[in-house]
Amino acid sequence: MTWRDRWFHLKRRVCEFFEDQWFDRTHHVHTSGDVSLRNAGIATGEEADSELYVPARPKHIREALHASPIPDASPYTFVDIGSGKGRTLFVAAELPFRRVVGVEFSARLHEQACRNVQTFRFRGKDGSRVEPLHQNAMEFRFPDGPLVLYLFNPFGAATMQVVLNRLNESLQRDPRHTVMVLLWPRCGEQVARVRGMQRVCGTQRHEIFQAYAPMRQS
Ligand SMILES: C[S@@+](CC[C@H](N)C(=O)[O-])C[C@H]1O[C@@H](n2cnc3c(N)ncnc32)[C@H](O)[C@@H]1O
Repeated sequence: MTWRDRWFHLKRRVCEFFEDQWFDRTHHVHTSGDVSLRNAGIATGEEADSELYVPARPKHIREALHASPIPDASPYTFVDIGSGKGRTLFVAAELPFRRVVGVEFSARLHEQACRNVQTFRFRGKDGSRVEPLHQNAMEFRFPDGPLVLYLFNPFGAATMQVVLNRLNESLQRDPRHTVMVLLWPRCGEQVARVRGMQRVCGTQRHEIFQAYAPMRQS
């Protein structure tokens, strides 16, 4: 690594640190700080291909949500699969989603998310629409109604396939508009194989898919 690379890396880390602190202070929550699986209380056998908690940058979450094909968020349930301390849930709550649900398998991270729901306040909003669930994503039952599913690399391909199979079953039973937002995407090809799912757009930072899009009114 050259001095120039090191300087850029340091500058980025400092910016991210202040952005994290700013988000937590202005939203009255504690979502910052990476947490290893061991510190999140996950036993070695349980890990399989799971990733540690690394909160997404708020501006990257907003950028991806604004690129999503949902002109009106109010009929949709937003689900963050692997929601950690809940940062993405609080960013999603800036939009008028019907429900904002988080699925997290670490009890410690889930408890922090629940504490955050109690203290969260931002621009006149509270945490009443935010529902963190303590559950393994592989057992999650997708809610009824149109969905926005968000994943920021919670796990690898094997777990992802189990989750996508469940989604596929749910959509076959009840076809409904479903948008999938992948942040720093690694498994777009797997998502594209879900029946009915089509890629809408993508950048280096996010990739967006949808299935069963409603017919546009002319
Ligand atoms: C990279 S973090 C993403 C955090 C958050 N979604 C965000 O965007 O800020 C991945 C999270 O997925 C959780 N996770 C990993 N495997 C999981 C599983 N099988 N079920 C539920 N949560 C899981 C981890 O504990 C961690 O909190």
